Amino acid sequence: MYVYISHYGGTLMLEHLARKWTRKEKQPEATEVDPSGKIPVHVAVIMDGNGRWANMRNLPRVAGHRAGMKTVKEVVKTADEIGIRYMTMYAFSTENWKRPRDEVDFLMRLPQEFLSTELDELIERGVRIRMLGSKDELPKHTLQALLTAEEKTRENTGLQLNFALNYGARHEMIKAFAELAERVKAGELSPDDIQEEDISRYLYTSDIPDPDLLIRTSGEIRLSNFMLWQLAYTELWFTDVLWPDFTREHFYQAIVEYQGRARRYGAV
Ligand code: IPE
Ligand code: IPE
Ligand code: MG
Repeated sequence: MYVYISHYGGTLMLEHLARKWTRKEKQPEATEVDPSGKIPVHVAVIMDGNGRWANMRNLPRVAGHRAGMKTVKEVVKTADEIGIRYMTMYAFSTENWKRPRDEVDFLMRLPQEFLSTELDELIERGVRIRMLGSKDELPKHTLQALLTAEEKTRENTGLQLNFALNYGARHEMIKAFAELAERVKAGELSPDDIQEEDISRYLYTSDIPDPDLLIRTSGEIRLSNFMLWQLAYTELWFTDVLWPDFTREHFYQAIVEYQGRARRYGAV
């Protein structure tokens, strides 16, 4: 019996060490990001898993969203330190209106809450804030908070922080195609002459480079209507980690992996 217990204890110890080792292996330090290596100019993030994070703790889903907001702060700081120029955070999709009213209301109050505590520090960091998405359906208070932040940070030349809010890639593309069709109808453009730029100039991202790296948390391997046009040649990185558990070490891990990728764009 004694032998059995001590053997079991030994196994536990080994497991513990193995976990520690894997954890260490999986979470590079800041120093492992090669500063002379390529740093992604634009990183887009599908912040997913807030609800499951809360469920696992017997908390209401909205507690997960609040915890996720803390992760946003940490990730923005880290991005700024690494020297990333653009961060786009998918915060609310055109499909998320299907959620229970209470949850939607909570999510629509988050930008205000985030900005009321963070805007000063973001301004100090020279961060420029932008909203990507359809403004029409947003509650007044949500829109007002975002427009104020956009206005106050318009001249800033540091990290550009985009919030994709009420964003849907198909909606964005329909809008672009409609404008393009108007130009064709007006005789300003012939269908034979349509170039990529004729479409991208009507997207929310007209003055933003395509993402170099896309991160999605929570183990879902899909795009959920996010930046379908812009992600054509983006490097994709998925993790099982839920968004509220996502740390700067996970972020470094994504960057280090990105630095090791060969981007061929169809060439050899
Ligand atoms: C992501 O977390 C946040 C939003 C979509 C607003 P979820 O709320 O989707 O969390 P899960 O996927 O249900 O766990
Ligand atoms: C995508 O997450 C939208 C955001 C992160 C804002 P969802 O949780 O809405 O995506 P699905 O429903 O799992 O595809
Ligand atoms: Mg989700």
